[in-house]
Amino acid sequence: MLPAGAVRGGWPLPPCRTGGPAPVLTPGISCLQGPGFGLIQFALMSSLRTHSALRFPHRHLLGIKDLSATDIDQILDLADSYVELNRQVDKKQNLLRGRTQINLFFEASTRTQSSFELAGKRLGADVLNMAVSNSALKKGETLIDTAMTLNALRPDLLVVRHPDSGAVELLSQKVDCAVINAGDGSNEHPTQALLDALTIRRRRGSLQGLLVAICGDILHSRVARSNIYLLNRMGARVRVVAPPTLLPAHIDRLGVEVFHDMRAGLQDVDIVMMLRLQQERMHGAFVPSLREYYHFHGLDYEKLSRAKPDALIMHPGPMNRGVEIDSEVADDIDRSVIREQVEMGVAVRLAILDLLSRNLPANSSAAGAK
Ligand code: NCD
Repeated sequence: MLPAGAVRGGWPLPPCRTGGPAPVLTPGISCLQGPGFGLIQFALMSSLRTHSALRFPHRHLLGIKDLSATDIDQILDLADSYVELNRQVDKKQNLLRGRTQINLFFEASTRTQSSFELAGKRLGADVLNMAVSNSALKKGETLIDTAMTLNALRPDLLVVRHPDSGAVELLSQKVDCAVINAGDGSNEHPTQALLDALTIRRRRGSLQGLLVAICGDILHSRVARSNIYLLNRMGARVRVVAPPTLLPAHIDRLGVEVFHDMRAGLQDVDIVMMLRLQQERMHGAFVPSLREYYHFHGLDYEKLSRAKPDALIMHPGPMNRGVEIDSEVADDIDRSVIREQVEMGVAVRLAILDLLSRNLPANSSAAGAK
């Protein structure tokens, strides 16, 4: 059942964004093994403590659209420190001790759900995974009923993925805890864009001035939308490359350059972001055939040769090998940072849980905190 205020399919268009100031790069601690380990661990803890003095000016994380360049820098700086924590043997922190985190996934997920679960557990929260796959809703329960049921469980943090655009925001208005959008329809997937930004920033030092091509099924992609907001906000230039059938109307209003030809779109780019062909969201034929799609829009070495020689290849996963990306290209250790994106996903989710938890009321349940 489509909740009131939610939109299925299509892209509701906000006003176009312009670039923001360059991000401030926090140097990470590169090595956590060997004789200096104690010192380095001390440096890591003080780095996390330094960041912990800052207040994040949002109660929920619903989308990149609501974040300023300063907010994004704050998240990425803290996530940088968490990358180091994740590489230690002992990854456990006490920050969320006594807190309850519920992961409510109305759609299947591997990476996102497991990294939110790991992040919550690493910070000491009690984590409950609820894979509802619409079952309660199919039995007639509305999203509002679900929200009320969840509220009675008194969570502090609620991580939600839902097939309808706007559903997570609606839920956030009905519950007392902090809500994190783990992907809503074709609207936003803010933590994916943040982990992509962290991956790029650690490789390139800054997002400012980079030329990024987002390629493939833009129409159905919340990842594309969140990345467009974030990259524009941080001063990168964004191209979208897709056949006309896989582009939302008026996409150019989001401040991107539009290309239909893959070779032209990839010319001289610093970053190639590939997207999955989301066949489960397609009603009707959007591409003539998967073979033809791969021929014209699949990333292979020949098309990649148009990009800068050191251009990074990214994909949010799951990948359709041989449909939007050639298998060898995806696994190319010199060019592809796809596995690194997964690692950065845990760090970014740790940072988000950390930042939002600072705004929770001191007593264990957030209920009544509105
Ligand atoms: C993306 C999603 O769910 O939007 N995947 C993810 O979060 N790792 C992209 C996709 O499903 O293609």
